Amino acid sequence: MNRILLAGATGYLGRYIAKELLKRSYPLRVLARNPEKLKQNNIKITEIFQAEINQPDAIKGCCKDIDVVISTIGITRQKDGLTYMDVDYQANMNLLQEAKQNGVKKFIFISVLNGDNLRNLKICDAKELFVEHLIESELAYCIIRPNGFFSDMTEFYTMAKKGRIYLFGDGELRTNPIHGEDLAIVCVDAIDKPDKEIKVGGPETKTHNEIAAIAFEALGTKPKITHIPNWVRLAILKMVRLFSGSKVYGPIEFFMTVMAMDMVAPEYGRRTLKNYFTNLNHQNA
Ligand SMILES: NC(=O)c1ccc[n+]([C@@H]2O[C@H](COP(=O)([O-])OP(=O)(O)OC[C@H]3O[C@@H](n4cnc5c(N)ncnc54)[C@H](OP(=O)(O)O)[C@@H]3O)[C@@H](O)[C@H]2O)c1
Repeated sequence: MNRILLAGATGYLGRYIAKELLKRSYPLRVLARNPEKLKQNNIKITEIFQAEINQPDAIKGCCKDIDVVISTIGITRQKDGLTYMDVDYQANMNLLQEAKQNGVKKFIFISVLNGDNLRNLKICDAKELFVEHLIESELAYCIIRPNGFFSDMTEFYTMAKKGRIYLFGDGELRTNPIHGEDLAIVCVDAIDKPDKEIKVGGPETKTHNEIAAIAFEALGTKPKITHIPNWVRLAILKMVRLFSGSKVYGPIEFFMTVMAMDMVAPEYGRRTLKNYFTNLNHQNA
């Protein structure tokens, strides 16, 4: 059975991938800088390689006797003073270098849906630069391009809980976000599949208005939605770019861009937003 190194197991998607790998009895090593987070998420891993992935010397040996590397490493919400180029690109490059030196057979990398068409965004540019190097490497590879995660859809629920959801444009753009547990199955299946690229989203494609309605329905409150004109979105983007550094601007730029376009990928999985929001409601009750 292939021996797996998972980098990113302390994150939202990574923790589901770790659980899926353990469920299928894969021999698993996890690369993590903060193993305490694994315990907090009830991930019972016996082999942990504790190191900072952005320090090449520190991760030397992490790929020894490994067949397949899976990396979900990237900046989402954490604020540790690093840029997308430092993490999404360079940290993954450090890992790729280790993988090549240790005869790893395959590298599975989590990018983002439409990342290759959105190179004007800092996050996508960093990820896709890594993708270019991965393709050029001698290793077999698979690039997973998922749609937005349910974890990010929590924002709809949070706004609904405060009484009003704000949407850009008329709210009729469509998307099919995916739950981490469904996506983890796709990532683990990729170990044995020949696909070099997999685009994937959740099982239901909805408009932003529909997603907002589901959030209010889960709360049992009357929908109140405000539609923000596109020119306001563009003005905010300009202001943030002028008055903040790239570390603040990057995530806002990404969020505001994907909220202003259809983001639809092939549908997969069975977990619904209705259940996700309802569970959030029970947890917060
Ligand atoms: N969220 C979405 O909607 C979405 C959609 C499509 C694609 N993606 C991509 O999918 C990937 C996983 O997303 P996620 O939501 O699971 O992210 P997440 O919860 O923030 O997890 C990111 C992982 O990367 C690690 N990491 C980040 N910066 C690091 C650094 N400087 N040094 C070492 N480790 C570092 C984190 O480790 P620590 O726990 O130690 O911080 C964590 O394990 C990301 O690349 C993201 O861009 C996300």
